[in-house]
Amino acid sequence: MDKMANDKKDKMISKKDKKIICLGIESTAHTLGVGIVDSLGNVLANVKDSYTTKKGGMIPVKAAEHHIEACDCVLAQALKSAGIGVRDIDVIAFSQGPGLGHTLRIGATIARTLSNALDRPLIGVNHCIAHLEIGSMLFPVKDPVLLYASGANTQVIAFDGGKYRIFGETLDIGVGNFIDCLARELGLGFPGGPGLYQLSLDAKEYIKLPYAVKGMDVSFGGLLTNLKQKISSRRYADADIAFSAQETVFSMLMEVSERALAHCGKDELLLGGGVSCNKRLQEMAKVMCKERGSRCYVPPNEFLVDNAAMIAWLGLKMHMASGATPISGSGIRPYERTDEVDIYWKID
Ligand code: ATP
Ligand code: FE2
Repeated sequence: MDKMANDKKDKMISKKDKKIICLGIESTAHTLGVGIVDSLGNVLANVKDSYTTKKGGMIPVKAAEHHIEACDCVLAQALKSAGIGVRDIDVIAFSQGPGLGHTLRIGATIARTLSNALDRPLIGVNHCIAHLEIGSMLFPVKDPVLLYASGANTQVIAFDGGKYRIFGETLDIGVGNFIDCLARELGLGFPGGPGLYQLSLDAKEYIKLPYAVKGMDVSFGGLLTNLKQKISSRRYADADIAFSAQETVFSMLMEVSERALAHCGKDELLLGGGVSCNKRLQEMAKVMCKERGSRCYVPPNEFLVDNAAMIAWLGLKMHMASGATPISGSGIRPYERTDEVDIYWKID
């Protein structure tokens, strides 16, 4: 933390009883979000605009262009929905990593510009940890294991020995990418999660599929190949494919989550990431937790998918624990690992 950053911060927290307002910017991938939260845990705004394609995957340069174009509108909408002016913001937080370099750079530039123009402290935030920390704003959760199941990421994260550590993760693609690829094979739209879930409700039987848990890690690539072969053989009903795929991959996620709870001696499971919107995954998580006497916390969908309120909330926590990111340290971190982050705002 440099002196300038410190001076800015001191200005903001000198009035002890003042409610602090943090604006967070999310831009790790296709979503440009602006969230505004206050130190009482109120979400004043959580606005986003996502880059979408009619066909094919995401082109990072195009997503970055989208964020540049959407930025003014998303920011104005967030301030309007919070009912505040830009000068009412006390702290500026942004997703510093991990994510796509092209899009992260846009969010970081917007954040640096606002911080400089308004003379407010800047806080760079780890996106994966923000998925976990939002739990403390929404629930009376103390020390959870996070099952972070999104398009690009599949990780089981928990606080241990002074750091957030990844206890298990995918060895190849994220579970959401797996689901979206399978949905495309079945002729469903993108994102595939909601369509696959709907289709699974018509299933008649479970088809036995490869189950790939390796230690604490999971793998979906082989299963996807196996399912593609089954689909092209035309011997199976689409609904049975959808149902069996969900049952298999969610069981894998439950196995590693449960083992993390047991190994860490923790009794709270928190869900995060867009795949956690799936009602079947939520049901399985609740049953698993109930059976082992643990609690399961499921945030509303708007806080499960990529959102900027979680960035603002973690930025606020870091700021209140004396954190600030000097401009010189505000470069993006596309490959930042969860366990590389100094968790100075939390006591072990
Ligand atoms: P990250 O950058 O954190 O990896 P991401 O950009 O990959 O995130 P998310 O929005 O967290 O994306 O998750 C996307 C996944 O969530 C997709 O696989 C999508 O199909 C799935 N999904 C989104 N909404 C729902 C829903 N309502 N029900 C089921 N699945 C959903
Ligand atoms: Fe995410």
